[in-house]
Amino acid sequence: MRPILVTSALPYANGSPHFGHMVGAYLPADIFVRYQRMIGSDVLYICGTDDHGVANTLAAEKEGVPYKEFVDRGYAVWKRVSDLLGISFDNFSQTSRRDPHYPLSQEFFLRLLRNGRVVRRDVKQLYSPKTGRFLADRYVTGECYRCGFKEARGDECPKCGSWLEATQLRNPRSRMDPADLLELRDSWQFELDLAQFPSDPRVRAWLDGLRPRLKPNVATFVFDKMIEGEGLEPRPITRDLPWGVPLPAKDLDGRPIADAEGKVLYVWFDAPIGYISSTIEWARAHGKDWRRYWIRRRGEEGARLIHFIGKDNITFHCIVFPAMLAWQEGGGPGGQGPGPGEEYVLPDNVPANEFFNLEGRKFSKSEGWTIDIEEFVSKHGADRTRFYLTAAMPETADSDFLHREFKAKTDLLANQFGNFATRVLKFVGQYFDGRVPPSSKDWEGVRGQVEARTREWAECIEGFRFRRALDAFMGLAEDGNRFLDETAPWKLRKTDLAACGSALHGALQYLPPLSVLAEPFVPGLAAKLRAMLNLPPRSPGPLLPAETLPAGHPLGPPSVVIERL
Ligand code: MF3
Ligand code: ZN
Repeated sequence: MRPILVTSALPYANGSPHFGHMVGAYLPADIFVRYQRMIGSDVLYICGTDDHGVANTLAAEKEGVPYKEFVDRGYAVWKRVSDLLGISFDNFSQTSRRDPHYPLSQEFFLRLLRNGRVVRRDVKQLYSPKTGRFLADRYVTGECYRCGFKEARGDECPKCGSWLEATQLRNPRSRMDPADLLELRDSWQFELDLAQFPSDPRVRAWLDGLRPRLKPNVATFVFDKMIEGEGLEPRPITRDLPWGVPLPAKDLDGRPIADAEGKVLYVWFDAPIGYISSTIEWARAHGKDWRRYWIRRRGEEGARLIHFIGKDNITFHCIVFPAMLAWQEGGGPGGQGPGPGEEYVLPDNVPANEFFNLEGRKFSKSEGWTIDIEEFVSKHGADRTRFYLTAAMPETADSDFLHREFKAKTDLLANQFGNFATRVLKFVGQYFDGRVPPSSKDWEGVRGQVEARTREWAECIEGFRFRRALDAFMGLAEDGNRFLDETAPWKLRKTDLAACGSALHGALQYLPPLSVLAEPFVPGLAAKLRAMLNLPPRSPGPLLPAETLPAGHPLGPPSVVIERL
């Protein structure tokens, strides 16, 4: 069986989780993974916090907290919130856990250097006379020279998604102190030679295969905007910063790397390697083999690597990280990466989502325009929240969290799905002693609907169309309701008890498949429904033929699956 490795973008430890993150990179991955687990795939779901980089150092410095202590605090928040929403990571790590992350990141760098993919270059950098150091990335703000956005950062523009050179920003200023007049001074950095990327034969073949698999919004960005548009140039992958994975002092042949002291690997270099480190951490804890998910023999298919991200991370997952992976060939002393005849797998897909706003405006904690996830979930429950977020997911275009829509959509869940189950089960409890009544009919139509909806649902999840998969689940609940309306068992109860039982028998057959189709979206409700059906958790395997409830099967005590708001 071809293993599947699923990742969600490692969140910056300093960031506070909001629905935009959840709906962009976490919930879709979790739905996908839950589905894969149900059908019995060998799937692993990996994540962790992104602890390095200027996003974290700036925030820690502002609070006057040591870096490690600061990111550990952030880690705890991300862990708590993702648990609360039922995001079912197999491992959730941190890039600041040194082992195995630091040596592995250094090995990535050293192999790239040895393979001629990294070059050392003298550069001019913005220097802050007041603090006596070079300012990297987000320490600098200014106007984007591609789109004119005023609040661009030294490394990228949050508006147009372009990579930026801090030194080319218009009116560059220090984020910490706008009165600090920045100077251009000489430094040097290592750069990853991305100009080699599109013409590399292995990369070319991979890109050709990838293109038709990508969602259109992602393909357009990667090919039209980046590769064929702006073009690829060498990108610096080291920084002058006191926090991060240190630039190694020696190369793979044991020769010193001059002046490595004081430099670290760029956060975007070490962060995606965090996917591998987190996998290694998982493997060590469970006595498993991490290489099964990351390394293949050349010419073999290997694992399917799938990165769930928001659209602002496309370049790094479709270009930079694949370049780093593709160019690791040839071992080194004590190396962990691919040995002779082996290579890292490259992403099979990068189903990036668009942005999610709050009532038409960007989520912003600093401006108070946000929803506290923990408060919201304590009030409305994880299932309702997950259901709505899936229904509103920005799969193909930006979308919004709308409070009135939250109520309307989740009421629909309560009416169509919850109420259907409760109605049928109560009736059977009352008049048939809580056992599945026998049936004089075969209810082929029910079976047909279950099969069609299940197929549609599975296809949509496999194709990363989660909103349509959710519609297939709700469609099956609608089918059930229509069946009840048409057969009207409550009208038959007094006139023809056997026909009434037959109809209920048919209606009950919607419920086990509904518990299956519900699981990836609303796992709590799915489990509750199965308990009411007196069914054990389903063991992984093929979805069809669907589970049925035979005559005489004793049902559990009926209760309310979910109430309207
Ligand atoms: N921390 C980054 C962000 O929030 C995402 C890092 S994804 C990884 O934008 F690949 F680098 F891990
Ligand atoms: Zn811009």
